[in-house]
Order: sequence, then structure tokens, then C-alpha cells
Amino acid sequence: MRRIAVLTSGGDAPGMNAAVRAVVRTAVYNNVEVYGVQRGFKGLIEGDFIKLNVSFVGDIIHRGGTVLRSARCLEFQNQESCRKCAVDLLNVFQIDGLIVIGGDGSFRGMTSLTEYGFSTIGIPGTIDNDLAYTDFTIGFDTAVNTVVEAMSKLRDTTSSHERITIVEVMGRRCGDIALYAGLSGGAEAILIPEVQYDLSQIAEQLIKSNNRGKKQSIIVVAEGVGNTEFISKEINHLTGFDTMTTILGHVQRGGNPSSRDRLLGSMMGNRAVDLLLNNITNRVVGVKDNQIMDMDINDALRSKKRFNREMYNLSKVLSI
Ligand code: F6P
Repeated sequence: MRRIAVLTSGGDAPGMNAAVRAVVRTAVYNNVEVYGVQRGFKGLIEGDFIKLNVSFVGDIIHRGGTVLRSARCLEFQNQESCRKCAVDLLNVFQIDGLIVIGGDGSFRGMTSLTEYGFSTIGIPGTIDNDLAYTDFTIGFDTAVNTVVEAMSKLRDTTSSHERITIVEVMGRRCGDIALYAGLSGGAEAILIPEVQYDLSQIAEQLIKSNNRGKKQSIIVVAEGVGNTEFISKEINHLTGFDTMTTILGHVQRGGNPSSRDRLLGSMMGNRAVDLLLNNITNRVVGVKDNQIMDMDINDALRSKKRFNREMYNLSKVLSI
């Protein structure tokens, strides 16, 4: 490998910059040239390539977002001609291997390049933590901390006004942000796409707690559960308590990455380049039992995420 490229794709995630920095610095350390593809797969089909050096990635390890910028690119997904064009451009730039930092959709995009015989490595970057093969994705820890901080602030006003606050957090198919933040923030109920919810049971519990003297509660709802405003109205209807809704939205995608996300980004970026240097390709990097690992991209995409039932049950026990 004499020249590699790196891109960030899909929803940005805090810690992506740490990964880009590690890719560039590991490559340069090993006398390999690095190009950055700007705006993900969109930049890949438009030839938006820039040469990166050690200084380009200086002063970014602590910043959220991605210096390479990101995009969701439907054309790349749907049009064979776009994928062909991407491979042609990679060849024009004499790129020997591409590192893709992103989530499930980005990894699927990456596999279409491997079908052309192109060497790729994936690094999991998404706040959702919805990739089954890895325990954690870059950005998840920071997003959870953002939600926990917001919950503490909401707890103050919820308590002063003796209300029920419904907090909607990100996560379309995966409830990990809701589960981890809900448990850390002491939520009274957690609604996630993996578990069918029962609002009358939650209302009953809220009334019981209220009779015991507890005058405020927070319910965390993952966006994938459905209509948060409807849930809020129903809780108000069933309990008679003052209920308000806060949708945290894209705030969860920003902010300085936590130390954990910076470490994950640094170690995964380093492993990705090492793999390419050893001509081991078409793999994704991850973390299992606190160890950085890698596996075949297709096996990774086929694996099914295990729902953490123990953690969910714990949240039930602790929220009485
Ligand atoms: O992929 C991460 C994520 O933040 C999801 O949690 C959320 O559903 C989605 O992206 C939002 O995407 P967009 O920024 O394109 O609206």
C-alpha cells in the first residue's frame, strides 16, 4: 500500500475526528500517503479528494463533527454508474485502499466497492450503537453523556413544577441511547423499539410513586418507538399529571467527544491502517470485551444485535 484514502459518511458522530487523525498519523508514520474524501460517498463520486498531512489533523481530537464533512448519498446506493465512477476516480488518484468511517448504510456502500475488487476497511462511527458485531460505536458514549446532562437539567425544572417530562432521544431501530442514558439518568421509564410498551402500566406506576410522595418523573423515549407527542398526551390523560415533552434531536450528535470516544477513534483508526498495510482488507474494526478486533465485513453485516435484556430489566428494578 503506497496511498490510502479515508472518508466519513452518514450521520456525524463525536470521535470521528479522532479516528481520522489516527488514520492519517499512522499512515504517515509508515510512509504511506493519505487522501481525504470530503462529504462521504458524495465526494467519492464527485472526486472531492484532498491530500492530507499531519498538520491537517492537528487540533481536532477534541472537536465534535468531522473535518472531512459527511453526507448521506442515495445516488451511490441506487446507481451502479455512480459506484463505477467512484472506483474509476479511486484508480485515477492511485488509491490502494479506502477506510470508511460510518454506520450500517456506509458499510453497505463500502461492500459495493469490494465487489469491484477494491480494498476497504470500515470503522464504526455512529451515535446509535446499532452495529451488531461491535460492543460500541464511536460517538455513542458522548451522545449518552449529552442525554444524561440534559436529563439532569430537565430534572431540576421537572421537580420544581412537579411534572412528568418525556424526553425523546435518537435511535430509530436501536434503543441503546435511551437505555444507557435512561439508566444513568435514573429515568422512571424507558421506551425503546426493542420492547413493546404499555402506557397504562407506566401510568399506574407513576400514580403509585406520586401517592408515595414522588412528584416528578422522567420518561426516556427512543425516536424509533413512534409518536412521542401522543405518548405524552396519553400519560397526561391516564395520570392527570402535568406532562411536558422535550425532543433533544441533533444536539445529541454534537459536542466534544468523551475520552472513551477519542480512545476508540484513535485505536480503531490505527488498527484500520495496520490492516491495510498487511494487505488484510474488506474488514470492519470493532471492540469486543474491551479489545479492539476486526472481522469480515459481510459477517459483520449479517450479525444480529443482541438486545441487552439484563440492562433493561435492571432499569425496571431501579425505577420503582
Ligand atoms: O445515524 C444517526 C442518527 O443521528 C439517528 O439517530 C437519527 O435517526 C438520524 O441519524 C438522523 O439523521 P439526519 O441527521 O440525516 O436527520
